[in-house]
Amino acid sequence: MTAFAWPIDQIRRQFPGLARAQQGRTVAFFDGPAGSQVPDSVVEAVCHWLRHTNCNRGAAFECGRESDAVLQAAHEAMADFLGADDPDCIIFGPNMTSLAMLLSRSLADRWKSGDEILVTRLDHDANVSPWVHAARVAGATVRHVDLNPGDWTLNLDDFQAKLSERTRFLAVGMASNATGTINPVREMISAAHAVGALTFVDAVHYAPHGRISVADLNCDFLACSAYKFFGPHEGILWGRRELLESLRPWKLRPAPDVLPGMWMTGTGALEAIAGTAAAVNYLASLADLLPQTSPDLTRRQKLDLTFRAITEWERILSLEMLAGLKSVPGLQIHGITDPAHVAGRVPTFSWTFPDCSPRTVSEWLAERGLCVWNGNAYALPFTETAGLEPGGTVRAGALHYNTIEEIERLTSALRQFRN
Ligand SMILES: Cc1ncc(COP(=O)(O)O)c(C=O)c1O
Repeated sequence: MTAFAWPIDQIRRQFPGLARAQQGRTVAFFDGPAGSQVPDSVVEAVCHWLRHTNCNRGAAFECGRESDAVLQAAHEAMADFLGADDPDCIIFGPNMTSLAMLLSRSLADRWKSGDEILVTRLDHDANVSPWVHAARVAGATVRHVDLNPGDWTLNLDDFQAKLSERTRFLAVGMASNATGTINPVREMISAAHAVGALTFVDAVHYAPHGRISVADLNCDFLACSAYKFFGPHEGILWGRRELLESLRPWKLRPAPDVLPGMWMTGTGALEAIAGTAAAVNYLASLADLLPQTSPDLTRRQKLDLTFRAITEWERILSLEMLAGLKSVPGLQIHGITDPAHVAGRVPTFSWTFPDCSPRTVSEWLAERGLCVWNGNAYALPFTETAGLEPGGTVRAGALHYNTIEEIERLTSALRQFRN
């Protein structure tokens, strides 16, 4: 099963947090869906910015010019990460939620009574409530794409039925932070465009798992968050230039009237922007550890290679997790469970026991150095639809730095819990 050569030791050594021990044993972090660990290079980039280039944007003096260069490099790094042509269309902000709220206000200017906004029941609430608030202000109607009971994938017939000439906007996630399901976003975007709707993709959960290309998706907006892909707490929004320029952002008068500054409200966490570029560079550097690499690859090509390998490693982790969780008596996985369909999910797993609260399970695992999450993870539309409120689920998510041994530890602890 491990024939695939993934340089796991070289990777793990770069993450200081992964060395944490509890009762003499290494802690296993399965809380990536709530925020990943970061490599030393990201810590260094944040510290370097604060030590050496700590200065607001646009200064005339040397340190300020150095700072501006670091920040410009971050726009370029994120353009590479998202497969975008134009670094000026990369907007940094506090987090994905705030950026979606900001954009929603401006989009609401274009909506009116009779218009329809389409959201899904598999999305994090950050990709639902901002559009619901904006629709209320504009007098537009919100429609919700339902799920298939069983594996809780999106019901695509329901999507088609709810999409119409009245649809102005589709908001959909690339992957669910609750069930791990990867959604057929490209096809949905194309269908939405066919009726003249704009499209917004929430790539927050998908970003650490797979390559993103806004050009390939052909979406209108896409957002993600660096703290999920090995960076600091920083949100990123990409939008098409003509849309970002023609929408009216809620901005201060002296703030720039051009991209990207017109959408970057207030003074940003500049050290986190610097750290975000380092996270992209870290991911690109993983390609150098792979046999298929070559010295003259561009950063984009390295990211292609890295994510192909991450996908392969995570497929192995998903299969291991599926087999292990299925061996635990009474454990019910909510999401895709068929190993034949493992390519349709990332290794994020949510489960419940019929007779025991998710909190009890996560506390029991925590005592054994196994970090999992419990609750609804803000994927409230899903937990409500699946009848999982108020406790939500237990959620364990693997990232490229997790090991098969950690998954065995987790699933054997769960078996012990049930005995
Ligand atoms: C799928 C998904 N979308 C959106 C968000 C919100 O991101 P942020 O914390 O950057 O606002 C999260 C956070 O967990 C998420 O998992």
